Amino acid sequence: LSEYHLVEGGKNLTKIDPSVPLPLYLSVFGLTGSTAYYGTVEILEVKKGDVFVVNAASGACGTVAGRIAKLRGAFVVGITSEGSKGEHIKKKYGFDEVINYKDYPNFEEFSKILKEKCPNGIDKYFDNVGGYQTDAVLKLLNKNGRIAVCGQISYYNSEPHFPKFTLAETIYKAIRIEGFVVSDFYSKPGYLNCLKEMSEWVKSGQLLSDDTIFKGFEEIPNAFLSLFSGNKLGKVIIQL
Ligand SMILES: NC(=O)c1ccc[n+]([C@@H]2O[C@H](COP(=O)([O-])OP(=O)(O)OC[C@H]3O[C@@H](n4cnc5c(N)ncnc54)[C@H](OP(=O)(O)O)[C@@H]3O)[C@@H](O)[C@H]2O)c1
Repeated sequence: LSEYHLVEGGKNLTKIDPSVPLPLYLSVFGLTGSTAYYGTVEILEVKKGDVFVVNAASGACGTVAGRIAKLRGAFVVGITSEGSKGEHIKKKYGFDEVINYKDYPNFEEFSKILKEKCPNGIDKYFDNVGGYQTDAVLKLLNKNGRIAVCGQISYYNSEPHFPKFTLAETIYKAIRIEGFVVSDFYSKPGYLNCLKEMSEWVKSGQLLSDDTIFKGFEEIPNAFLSLFSGNKLGKVIIQL
């Protein structure tokens, strides 16, 4: 942690609208909201009729990605833990189907439920998690399917995962897999569209967010660990 942040010549600052609730500048208009937009709109080019799957779906990137895909007319399937989180994202963000991956803890069981939820296959996959979830999605991807690799949180704290597929899987179905990092987005023309479109959606009430606020400096470790336990909803924010 740094104790101060030096700004030179007013560069890299964004003027904010004080009428907008401040936490939104850390969620929807912050790093995770831009990540969701970049992956969903620019990389996956989600369109009407697509079957769109996102995991860590009740999190900061996942809720926004799922909502944007819904606003673009996709059939949206979210993967998260706990029934209450699934019901919440259906109600608040309009997810069409949800899967609690903890009920399907291996490739075989997860593949079966995924096929039930996506009987017509999958067109676009926003991957926050990796591991056996991605193995199962890859088998169900339709022709010209796309994967945006946003994160691989399932093995940030464990051994690397060795996929159950080879790249041969991508050939006949012309599958495109693209990793991305949101900082590359800030210098692209699409970033201005992102800010404009996201503001319109927020103002019209079509894009909402959830914040889990931890209060106090001493809560920083708990806030960080909640990302791995999943013991939170939406964006984790620390209020000092
Ligand atoms: N590429 C980029 O530029 C970029 C930018 C920001 C974030 N990211 C990545 O995007 C992902 C989401 O970030 P976020 O900030 O929005 O976090 P988040 O989704 O708000 O929080 C992480 C969520 O991941 C799920 N999770 C944790 N461990 C898991 C496991 N072993 N298996 C399955 N799910 C697990 C938990 O939700 P459940 O309740 O669903 O288990 C947890 O709430 C992360 O992988 C992060 O590294 C990438």
